[in-house]
Amino acid sequence: MTRTPFIAGNWKMNLDHLQAIALVQKLAWTLADARHDFAAVEVAVFPPFTDLRSVQTLVQADKLPIRYGAQDVSVHASGAYTGEVAGAFLARLDCAYVIVGHSERRQYHAETDEIVGAKARAAKENGIVPVICVGETLEQREAGEATAIPTAQLRTALASLAPGDDFVIAYEPVWAIGTGLAATADDAQAMSAALRATIADALGEETAENTRILYGGSVKTENAAGYLKMPDVDGALVGGASLDVDSFAGIVRFQKHVTF
Ligand code: PGA
Repeated sequence: MTRTPFIAGNWKMNLDHLQAIALVQKLAWTLADARHDFAAVEVAVFPPFTDLRSVQTLVQADKLPIRYGAQDVSVHASGAYTGEVAGAFLARLDCAYVIVGHSERRQYHAETDEIVGAKARAAKENGIVPVICVGETLEQREAGEATAIPTAQLRTALASLAPGDDFVIAYEPVWAIGTGLAATADDAQAMSAALRATIADALGEETAENTRILYGGSVKTENAAGYLKMPDVDGALVGGASLDVDSFAGIVRFQKHVTF
């Protein structure tokens, strides 16, 4: 298996561009001090749009091995869409990734599965790897739909992609986001296996085997290794804990906590 573990920090609407520079710099120093091997565990941050140019400048000037992406992208290429940001603009900022379909976008901005798919396509058309988020609400889980909802969300998004495309999936149960109520590692594994089977069904075994599936929802330094040792969990999408350098660096260095 050749999937490189991936630790991604979703800052959400936190940190202005000056704070972003300070955090990325400190993160780079902390991981350099710890002799982190970025080829063994990939690291990316997802700052607000207004920070991206500053992060790009810092990363390129100091040749930092940290990657970065945006938290959203427009489905449109350009034109009269006030407030939206085109994939081409993100590509000019050398964004490696873009998050699409985060539950906060689905909930507060009425993003449907079809819109999420269109955003994944917009990313792909601009050479940016989409990080496609799926996950069930507590009500859906209690109604016995914990697997049906995320796999259906994924299936719709995958209609925008083709076999061999590079994309990342993040399984983020809505009830676990920002609540401290993290899913169990077994739950994360079961869901990741179901999502991988969905990819295999839609785009073939090879694409499914090559696609990284992250768990997200109250990931911390203390619980990260438990998820990462699961065979189908290839990383973490981290919200709150990504705003604190020591916590985030601790998650990146999860291999130091793995006990077999
Ligand atoms: P959390 O957020 O780590 O604060 O739970 C995760 C996310 O929403 O991506």
